[in-house]
Amino acid sequence: MDSSAFSSFLASRRSTRDFLPKPVPQDVIDAILTDAMTAPSWSNTRPYMVAVATGEVRDRISTELLRRWAIAGEALRGSWWKKVLFFLKRDGLPTSDYKVWRPYPKDVQPRSQKIGRDLYTHIGVARGDKAARDREWARNFDMFGAPVAIFIFTHSGLPTYAVSDAGLFMENLMLSAHARGLGTCAQGALAVWSDPVKAEFDVPKQYKLLCGISIGYPSKDKVNTFRAERLPIADITLRPKS
Ligand SMILES: Cc1cc2nc3c(=O)[nH]c(=O)nc-3n(C[C@H](O)[C@H](O)[C@H](O)COP(=O)(O)O)c2cc1C
Repeated sequence: MDSSAFSSFLASRRSTRDFLPKPVPQDVIDAILTDAMTAPSWSNTRPYMVAVATGEVRDRISTELLRRWAIAGEALRGSWWKKVLFFLKRDGLPTSDYKVWRPYPKDVQPRSQKIGRDLYTHIGVARGDKAARDREWARNFDMFGAPVAIFIFTHSGLPTYAVSDAGLFMENLMLSAHARGLGTCAQGALAVWSDPVKAEFDVPKQYKLLCGISIGYPSKDKVNTFRAERLPIADITLRPKS
């Protein structure tokens, strides 16, 4: 394969944040998963499992995530008393298997702040417009309108390498989808509440929800023309001690 064509293909994959309702045929989903399984894995253990949510299952999960986001968002924006009530009632509190809402380490936090700023500027959401930001955030829980959400679970008995293997699997999956004209968005947001997903699938207890990936055909919405900045390799390359 021509290496420059391969580089261009890799560079052309971008997160999709608005999807058409057009269904994705089951044989296409199967082909993407088969491609994903060609990823390398620690001792070929493949310590991950996936749950493919479509149709009513996808809709029930999304409805419940949106309900919890509405409750949590209102409490977190509200008075201290509303916050206390939220913690006492517990409805809407995160039930994630991993700490999804952990603050970013100081050295990488500016990158995260930049991507948020750049994305919202691109779609015309003003900095102080909290209502519009909330609305955009809520779209995560509707899988940005995608007809398919694939939830990735990792084996808790192999903590670090299960997550690394799942990451390789996910990248293969997203590139395979991209090669078929589909868009994807990996979403930590889809793991904030794990029990609505576990209510729909038989998840063995040693498997933890890592994240979700929304999949579908991209719409022509402006959000899909957003191009996240690519850091130069010098920013992640260690120099030898002199
Ligand atoms: C593990 C993981 C979790 C992510 N979570 C979210 C998310 O919850 N919501 C979202 O809109 N994008 C999410 N993203 C997408 C990243 O923001 C995106 O990959 C990054 O900004 C680079 O942009 P690109 O994918 O368009 O190249 C996530 C990506 C990864 C790999």
